[in-house]
Amino acid sequence: MKVVMVATECTPFFKTGGLADVIGSLPHALSALAHELIVFLPKSTSIPTPILLQLEWVDTFFVPVTWRNQHCAILSYKEKNVTYYFIENDYYFDRKPFYGQEDDGERFTFFTHAVLESMEKLALHPDVLHCHDWQTGLLPAYIKAGAYSHKVKTVFTIHNLRYQGVFPHSIFNELLHLDKQHQIGLDHNGAINFMKAAIVHADWITTVSPTYAKEIQSSAFGEGLDSLIRERNHSLTGIINGIDEGYFNPATDFHIPVTYHHQPERKRENKKALQDKLGLTISEHTPLISLISRLVEEKGVSLVTNTIDDLLQAEDVQFVCLGSGDPVIEEQFEQLAQRYPDRVAFYRGFNEELASFIYAASDFLVMPSKFEPCGLSQLIALRYETVPIVRETGGLKDTILSFNEFTGEGNGLSFTNYKEEDFLYTVRRGLWLYREEALWKQLQHNIYTSKFDWSQSAKAYEDVYKHVVNEGAWDET
Ligand code: GLC
Repeated sequence: MKVVMVATECTPFFKTGGLADVIGSLPHALSALAHELIVFLPKSTSIPTPILLQLEWVDTFFVPVTWRNQHCAILSYKEKNVTYYFIENDYYFDRKPFYGQEDDGERFTFFTHAVLESMEKLALHPDVLHCHDWQTGLLPAYIKAGAYSHKVKTVFTIHNLRYQGVFPHSIFNELLHLDKQHQIGLDHNGAINFMKAAIVHADWITTVSPTYAKEIQSSAFGEGLDSLIRERNHSLTGIINGIDEGYFNPATDFHIPVTYHHQPERKRENKKALQDKLGLTISEHTPLISLISRLVEEKGVSLVTNTIDDLLQAEDVQFVCLGSGDPVIEEQFEQLAQRYPDRVAFYRGFNEELASFIYAASDFLVMPSKFEPCGLSQLIALRYETVPIVRETGGLKDTILSFNEFTGEGNGLSFTNYKEEDFLYTVRRGLWLYREEALWKQLQHNIYTSKFDWSQSAKAYEDVYKHVVNEGAWDET
């Protein structure tokens, strides 16, 4: 099958979050199943120079946007069997931050038109057009409206329903070039909603875990679109993300001082090295808990900030946090590190190298998210033989089974309710297990045997593609 994917970030080119990791690895996993994969991306100016130098010019044309024509170049790049096409327009895509700009509606409408035009120019004729998140949400609507001359089925993946791309109607009357009839489904509470457009018009919808697929059908997680999603639940599948186990590999990772594979004593060497680097007391037997996350309320950080003092006062434990986001939360971690200079360290920002080092050095990684479509950090933690402590929501629920000391099952620790006392209790249970040698060994063994590479998930996407192509799936009217 020929599959065109469209997204706005992708490792190793440009990344703001987990979406980039998925787009960086899923196409390769699908191409290993003998499909032809083509990926469209905006050309961000953050692409590393060695890659930038290898981009090849393919074509240049103009895209009408409101009353003017915008320049667009297509550049190509090939990695293994996957072809990438970058849509270049520096006016729209040379932005920092990449999202959250005042003209996002215009920027991603331009991107949508540019992708459609490029597919025509390149005569791509894919079987499936697979779009990711709201920035690409208009594409299924345009395909339905006949804006592409070739017959193609659309699949849309929701990576996070909270971010929907909502813009005022006014601009779009000029921008969209869609007749009234085909604007159906785009309107939501008097505004244009890109995510809704895809939910209404895609032939099939997927999201990144089976539990999140259920959760978003409820008003608690549906972000105002739950009734629509319920209507489409016969064409909705939850497929858990994998991680690139070649990239995330403690046995070969050159970011960490001591590589290891099922060797807790070597892993502890990393702990000492990290304690040394971050100015913490060097103590290999002190449990090290980490948080590697965007520092926003939805990640459940208040459970951490409201309980960490109690924990530090009651237990011999150290805490490391890496991330950035809400300045108020950043400040809380900053102050915490000042209060406990030899037991707490905070790195503001994101640093891939340091993140790997922290995964490798930690005994526990906490992820008490309020909601979590899939979550990748808990999978990376498992890969680095670190015990994840998670709240049972979305993909966290689907990947982490809480350790049961009676049956010996479980690859982490989890709690159900978003409550400080439940979080604290679960962390303290983890610290107890850490001291119970036989149980800790069993838990580690379970972690060693957990597998979350892409092979299963790629097959699940393949099934979705086959289904939409063969059966038509969604009512064509
Ligand atoms: C979003 C979600 C996260 C998911 C990622 C990749 O960032 O918040 O849970 O893992 O997308 O699908």
